[in-house]
Amino acid sequence: MRKRIHILAMGGTIAGKAGDSAATTGYQAGAVGVEELIAAVPQIKDVAEVTGESIAAIDSKDITAEEQLRLAGRVRELLLKGEVDGIVVTHGTDTMEESAYLLDLLHFADKPVVFTGAMRPATALSADGPLNLLDAVRVAASDNARDRGVLVVLNNAIHSARLVTKISTTAVETFQSPNGGAIGAVNDGAVVFYHSAELHHLPGALSISEKLTSQRELPYVPILYGHSDDDGRLIKWAVENGAKGMVYAGMGNGSIPARVETKLAVAVQQGIPVIRASSSACGMVTQAEASYEQAGFIASGWLNPRKARLLLQVSISCSISPADWQKFLA
Ligand code: SIN
Repeated sequence: MRKRIHILAMGGTIAGKAGDSAATTGYQAGAVGVEELIAAVPQIKDVAEVTGESIAAIDSKDITAEEQLRLAGRVRELLLKGEVDGIVVTHGTDTMEESAYLLDLLHFADKPVVFTGAMRPATALSADGPLNLLDAVRVAASDNARDRGVLVVLNNAIHSARLVTKISTTAVETFQSPNGGAIGAVNDGAVVFYHSAELHHLPGALSISEKLTSQRELPYVPILYGHSDDDGRLIKWAVENGAKGMVYAGMGNGSIPARVETKLAVAVQQGIPVIRASSSACGMVTQAEASYEQAGFIASGWLNPRKARLLLQVSISCSISPADWQKFLA
């Protein structure tokens, strides 16, 4: 039986329109409708029975928690109804890793949810979107993609939502998983997995996703970016402006300058959880210093600052015990 794949369009460069086919920047993101995106890839109908709908038509730098939760709500609804075999989300690349990771935390089904996008607008010579969309549908329709959580497919590579990150401002091979590598590839149409993806759904993801998708926002958790001569003055501002948690993107192995550490320790004493992450491109953030442990800072493990922030937001929203969510950092 042919697989039924439903595409949820969020906008982004994959749906971008430029005035000139040689232009790869300076275009309008999210300008092409989902039906037009599907029609541009006639080969899709040989792979699966494909339908589509638009959830948003935005440049993903502007995405809000409300839109991410709306997307999560629609994915949840489709999976619960059981009328589709897989879901593809077309999304801007700038925040794709965040939306994909949020949905991965809330994923409760074995059916694939696959994010894709493009670095060149739909109108560009050599647009990468059509093949990315075809590959994403191929992965979503593959039996081998079941039970692997939320995946990200671009440039013929398959990545897990948890480890993937956008590393280049403009290159088509921008999505990489520096800690662990891609988990598979689409080779000339064949979907191949090299190794399994570790599942990182939150325990009770079905009820957590029900709660979260009925709300329109997530708690305010800023990321503070560490740098030389940082005195941590933004911490006071964040606390006074309602931060419910904080992520500090420190240096190297999540190192925090002494003046900042003192102020973050006070925040933890006030009941504001603090995750120590890193601004380095790869590597694990470990507990490292006894003083960090004494202050109660949580090491981000393999998560980059933006993903650590989402995990903290979801955990705070749903009062998930630290013991239940911190295991996702290791
Ligand atoms: C966006 O993230 O919406 C614009 C950039 C892109 O999709 O590559």
